[in-house]
Amino acid sequence: VPPSPATPDRPAKPHLPDAQTVTQVTHWTDRLFSFRVSRPASLRFRSGEFVMIGLMGDNGKPLLRAYSIASPAWDEELEFYSIKVPEGPLTSKLQHIKVGDEIIMRPKPVGTLVHDALLPGKRIWFLATGTGLAPFASLMREPETYEKYEQVIMMHTCRTVDELEYGRQLVESLKDDPLIGELVGDKLLYYPTCTREEFHHMGRVTDNLTSGKVFEDLGLPKMNPEEDRAMVCGSLAFNVDVKAILEGFGLEEGANSDPKQFVVEKAFVGEGI
Ligand code: FAD
Ligand code: A2P
Repeated sequence: VPPSPATPDRPAKPHLPDAQTVTQVTHWTDRLFSFRVSRPASLRFRSGEFVMIGLMGDNGKPLLRAYSIASPAWDEELEFYSIKVPEGPLTSKLQHIKVGDEIIMRPKPVGTLVHDALLPGKRIWFLATGTGLAPFASLMREPETYEKYEQVIMMHTCRTVDELEYGRQLVESLKDDPLIGELVGDKLLYYPTCTREEFHHMGRVTDNLTSGKVFEDLGLPKMNPEEDRAMVCGSLAFNVDVKAILEGFGLEEGANSDPKQFVVEKAFVGEGI
C-alpha cells in the first residue's frame, strides 16, 4: 500500500506495511525479552507456527526475521519471546521497542510444530532449549494439546536458572487460567533443567533422555513409538542430537503432509548455516 498523500485536513503519515502496535514488553534477562502486539483481525494461524516480523531498516526496506508465535491461536493479541543478539541486525534494535511502537508482521504463518503433523498418541513431549520454548509457549496454552493427549511433558533446558523464568511463570499461570486451567489440570508435566548453574534438575535434554532419568523422575515408561509423540525446537546441534535419540526409541519424523511420531524445527539459524 503506498503512503497516503497529504490533504489539507489530513497530514501525510509514514505508512509501515503490515504494522502492528506493541502492547507490552517484558525484559527477562540481558539476553531475553518477550513482547505482545496487536493481532490483525484477519490473521488465522495454528498454535506452534511462525511468522516473519521485524522493523524498517535504515535503507527503508523491512528487516524481517522468522519468529514463533508464543501465544495460542485463540488469543486476542500476539506474543513473541526473543533473544537479544548484541550485534544482531534486527534484535540489536528490536530489544529497545516500547509500548505504542509499531513492528512489521507479515501475516503468513507457517511451520512444522503443529498437531496436524503428528499421528494420535498418548503422551506428547515438547523438547526445547533457549528461545526454542516459544512455539511450546503457544502449544501449552492450546486446548487441542490437552484434548489430544493424556499427558504433556515440557522439557526445557537453559544454561542458567534466570533463562528459565519466562517458561516457569507461563507454566505456573496455566493452573489459574480461566480459559484452559481446567483442561490442563495435572496433565502438564514441566521438566526444566540447567546445565551451567546449580538447580534442582540438571543436565541436557539429550542426557536426561538417554540416561532414562526423566522417565524415572516423572514415573513414565521409556519413550516408545506406540504411545509417545514429540516436537523439538532448539539449535541445529540440539535438533540433530535429539532426532537421533528419538529415532533410537523407534519414533519417526513426520511433516504436515505426512504425519508421524515427531517433528523438528530450528529455533534459529546458527553462524555459517
Ligand atoms: P541474526 O543475524 O538473525 O542472528 C545472529 C546470530 O545470533 C545467529 O547466527 C545465531 O548464532 C544467533 N541467534 C539468532 N537467534 C537466536 C536465538 N533465538 N537464540 C540463540 N541464538 C540466536 N528467535 C527468537 O528470539 N524467538 C523466536 O521465536 C524465533 N523463532 C524462529 C523460528 C524460526 C523458524 C527460525 C528459522 C528462527 C527463529 N528465531 C527466533 C531466530 C530469529 O529469526 C533471528 O535469528 C533472531 O531474532 C536474531 O535476529 P538478528 O537479526 O538480531 O540476528
Ligand atoms: P550446555 O551448557 O551443556 O552446552 P546454547 O545457549 O549454547 O544455545 O545452549 C542452550 C542450552 O542447550 C544449554 O543448556 C546447552 O547445554 C544445551 N545444548 C546445547 N547444545 C546441545 C546439544 N547438542 N544437545 C543437547 N543440549 C544442548
